[in-house]
Amino acid sequence: MEQLMIKIIALVLVSYWVGQAKTDEDFCYKKQCPEYRQLEKNEVFEKRLYYAAYWTTTKVDGTGSADVMAAHARLKGYFQGHGWATDKNYPVLVNVTERGGPSDYSLSWFVPPGNQISESSDPSVTLELKPEAIFYVMFFHGTPSVELCLQNANILREALVTAVKTFDPHTYIGAGYESYFSILHHNEVWIPTTADVIS
Ligand SMILES: *[C@@H]1O[C@H](CO)[C@@H](O)[C@H](O)[C@H]1NC(C)=O
Repeated sequence: MEQLMIKIIALVLVSYWVGQAKTDEDFCYKKQCPEYRQLEKNEVFEKRLYYAAYWTTTKVDGTGSADVMAAHARLKGYFQGHGWATDKNYPVLVNVTERGGPSDYSLSWFVPPGNQISESSDPSVTLELKPEAIFYVMFFHGTPSVELCLQNANILREALVTAVKTFDPHTYIGAGYESYFSILHHNEVWIPTTADVIS
């Protein structure tokens, strides 16, 4: 698992070297990130309303590095095929969903506004306008890994239970904003407010 996340982040981000966030409030410094509105904030987590935005998504077919490499190559190929830049758009999301069966992993990449949107030429990559959605968000530092992300998802879940918040217990999303080789990392874990409910 840890290996998987390391590969995901390394593969997706290794070719970029963009401005470093100086504080956790500044995590999108010199980057293009999806717009959101903060609805609530406490010492542990915040609640964000993300506005509708375009994302590309592809399945990660297994936990092997070849699967992740293939997933990343599909997204990057898709961006390049559409003439979209790939150097400043963040975050990259790893969505881990467990609904009974084995975990479902997917990789999503933010498509900044201003790109010419057109039909997908690669059936394995979905380009979708994700509608507004509300997430509980907690940041964490450290070199990203699935293990670290799951640990933080569990901390966030406990905090949400304590705060009597309703959330989707089957999904957590890791958001990465830096090169894997960055010295400082602002990572986030996102948990949807309720299962499959948007807005
Ligand atoms: C995460 O994946 C699940 C299962 O595919 C999907 O229903 C959900 O919409 C995804 N969440 C986000 C934020 O992309």
